[in-house]
Amino acid sequence: MKINGKHHHTIWLKDDDEQVVQIIDQRALPHELVIEDLKSVDDVFIAIKDMHVRGAPLIGVTAAFGMYFAALEAFDNQEFTKYVIASAEKLKSARPTAVNLAWAVDYQLTLLSNNPKSLPATLLENALTIKKESIERCRKIGEYGFPLIEKIYKKKHRPVNILTHCNAGWLACIDYGTATAPIYAAHDKGIPVHVWVDETRPRNQGARITAFELKEHGIPHTVITDNAGGHLMQHGEVDLVLVGTDRTTRDGDVCNKIGTYLKALAAKDNGIPFYVGAPSSSIDFSISDGIKEIPIELRGEEEVKYIQGEHDGTIKKVLLTPAESPAANYAFDVTPARLVTGLITEQGICEASRRGLIKLFH
Ligand code: MRU
Repeated sequence: MKINGKHHHTIWLKDDDEQVVQIIDQRALPHELVIEDLKSVDDVFIAIKDMHVRGAPLIGVTAAFGMYFAALEAFDNQEFTKYVIASAEKLKSARPTAVNLAWAVDYQLTLLSNNPKSLPATLLENALTIKKESIERCRKIGEYGFPLIEKIYKKKHRPVNILTHCNAGWLACIDYGTATAPIYAAHDKGIPVHVWVDETRPRNQGARITAFELKEHGIPHTVITDNAGGHLMQHGEVDLVLVGTDRTTRDGDVCNKIGTYLKALAAKDNGIPFYVGAPSSSIDFSISDGIKEIPIELRGEEEVKYIQGEHDGTIKKVLLTPAESPAANYAFDVTPARLVTGLITEQGICEASRRGLIKLFH
């Protein structure tokens, strides 16, 4: 997608150096566009853990490049396999909830059984393939999700109001986004849309990142506080809710950024369709009950107690709470399948259920 009219991905191999991966450091958005070089497993681990990169699909692709670095670092080492496996465990531990991370690392590990001598090149090639496939999944989600928006427009003959939570946009992926892919598709095909952007405390991925990408693409949008969605739904101001997912179970429970569950409850109460952009890389077919089985990341309390913004050209953090007050920072919640109208996957739209997923993914 575009920044200042120029097409970008969120991660790429440096032009003149195949041993350097470049990312957009999302901590500085929307105020600065910072490009960071990653050169080692440790760099990748920190970039994921401290959220220089974030969003389930992007975390997965970044970790795939991390495995390439592991192979490079261990190439001449007697303990090659041991080092690569330890790196895999380290990368997987960076963030526990989004299944894409373990999915991409394990995908790379399966190549370990091949000739170790060809490993760095093989893992690089595979990381690039994972990246390419990730882009294609999002593009297809846009294609399958577009008719949902088109149908509302044809019925109402006015801009379609869509509410989204957190950032499930191209900056959470490589391109297009998951929840945003149908929105970009609709806008690009001339269907007027307006997006309500939940600010998404505490890290404000909605206010900082979703608003930034929508603005860059020229999509009308309004940033709202996290608690405003229910009120807007009661007053007919929301036609459709579209969110992403960090992990969806085989029975259709959806784990996504904290606060998603409350939006789903409000949508159900107001008869508003609630759809999830769910690439297969975010579906965990090994588990069934999202509430019991998905590990919810608990992040540092400083993210709740401090807020970041720009003042006089510099990015600053200020204390929001009494310094002594403790804070709890649950990063994700689970929306039970019964509240989800449908999953928009790269294979089509299905019911959020085992039956629905089996139809698409056998
Ligand atoms: O903590 P984050 O910013 O990595 O969380 C991101 C989200 O919750 C997204 O909604 C999710 O990854 C879906 S991504 C396309």
